[in-house]
Amino acid sequence: MKQLLLSICLAASLAARAAEPVRIDIQADQPGPVIARQIYGQFAEHLGAGIYGGLWVGADSRIPNVRGWRSDVVNALKAIKVPVLRWPGGCFADEYHWRDGIGPQARRPPRVNTSWGGVIEPNAVGTHEFMDLAEQLGSEVYINANLGSGTVQEMAEWLEYLTAEGDTALARERRANGRDKPWKIQHWGIGNESWGCGGHMKPGYYADLYRHWSTFAKAPRGNRPKLVASGGQGLELNWVETLSAEIKQRMDAVTHHQYSLPTRDWEKKGSAIAFPEAEWISTLAVPQTIDGYLAKHREILDRNDPARKLAIYFDEWGSWYDPEPGTDAGFLVQRNTLRDAVLAALHFHVFHRHAERVKMANIAQMVNVLQAMVVTDQERMVLTPSYHAFAMHLPFQDATSLPVKLAGVPAYTLGQHSIPALSASAAKGADGRLLLSLANTHPGNPLPLQIAVGGKSVRAVTGQLLTAATMDAENRFEAPDRVRPQSFKAQATGGQLAVTLPAKSVLVLEVQP
Ligand code: AHR
Repeated sequence: MKQLLLSICLAASLAARAAEPVRIDIQADQPGPVIARQIYGQFAEHLGAGIYGGLWVGADSRIPNVRGWRSDVVNALKAIKVPVLRWPGGCFADEYHWRDGIGPQARRPPRVNTSWGGVIEPNAVGTHEFMDLAEQLGSEVYINANLGSGTVQEMAEWLEYLTAEGDTALARERRANGRDKPWKIQHWGIGNESWGCGGHMKPGYYADLYRHWSTFAKAPRGNRPKLVASGGQGLELNWVETLSAEIKQRMDAVTHHQYSLPTRDWEKKGSAIAFPEAEWISTLAVPQTIDGYLAKHREILDRNDPARKLAIYFDEWGSWYDPEPGTDAGFLVQRNTLRDAVLAALHFHVFHRHAERVKMANIAQMVNVLQAMVVTDQERMVLTPSYHAFAMHLPFQDATSLPVKLAGVPAYTLGQHSIPALSASAAKGADGRLLLSLANTHPGNPLPLQIAVGGKSVRAVTGQLLTAATMDAENRFEAPDRVRPQSFKAQATGGQLAVTLPAKSVLVLEVQP
């Protein structure tokens, strides 16, 4: 009997505690670093239908296009203001020879894409076409040069071809191919994953090669791209340690890659849909690991680069699941669900938190590949939940980050994983608006919230909420709006604002103090 009473009391006190709102206090008077809009960058590789079919259909296609780039997809991407686009890879970058992709289409040599599916790379999309896409999107460009199987001369000539102003042979060749003015190149990567598909190098060897190659990455004054060294992946710190110690004078940024695999097992990563809750939480636990990892990464940079000139470009991130059954495993086709949208929001929060060093991040990848924004099938197109997460966070591009104090956040625990049920990030938008992004990671429990600014309760909030009935809700061609943002509003009554954040949701608010 005594035991029963004790259990009832315990359950009652737990229930009382569960009803306690989480307190969120935005420290609007303590502005942090600017959230570089490039944190919302994209990545498009010659991989599966990432370029061909998904973006490029060719000028003669019955699918409406502008100079070969399909208009529906380009327009959808314009709406999320892609700040920077990385191309042509990935692993593909280290087998790409830029001369294959210039000049008359009919004369471009077909090659085998040995990285992705062994298919024929027609080279229909080359330098001029890519730069046209970036111009149509209004994006900065981040070109990854081929260190793995190219030559220094090849890289140097590519950069000269792109940027030469005078009457040089390469500038003449560019003009003959239809482009008079030099292009602006903002970011120039030397190699990709040089520890793996880019050459299986050790960091010291890469540092020597980088020193050599960067010497010849020349461009006219006023049009010099930021030079980007290829760094490590996962939880590895050796690369940033070596590169920031040895070549910091020669680089502007060092890259890092980390994907979110539900099982952490590359042989059996986990399903994109119909997954167990254990794989919901394990996937959403990855950004927390990245957060801890970035803190260590930054400690190394702060020691080796106390002047804080070096940036981190987190230029590949996102979910990576088992390939969609019936597709070529080399095309990295996967479905995109509510889980991906929550995952994206959690990444944004981490990147905002480390905005002082993280100056770029690129989701892998933009169209039809991995955690894509857009999925196409012939003339059909659908926007994924991840697209909506990017769209909702648009006001965070170039906003000033603000610290947020959280109190009373319950843990969400399942099996070996335990993560906070709430993740939050605040900022002052470039237009002065006070912004708050929230993610409820728990798939079943709504969270009551109390929002304050500098300790004072707020008047009202308005914004957009993304949620759905199931963890694996997705948009399909035949049902494209199953997961889409809904408008959200709440007003204070009696000086108190009560907001409930639904389970498994992302909410982006404008806060009116
Ligand atoms: O995004 C797919 C691949 O993942 C990239 O080509 C490579 O850099 C990484 O291993």
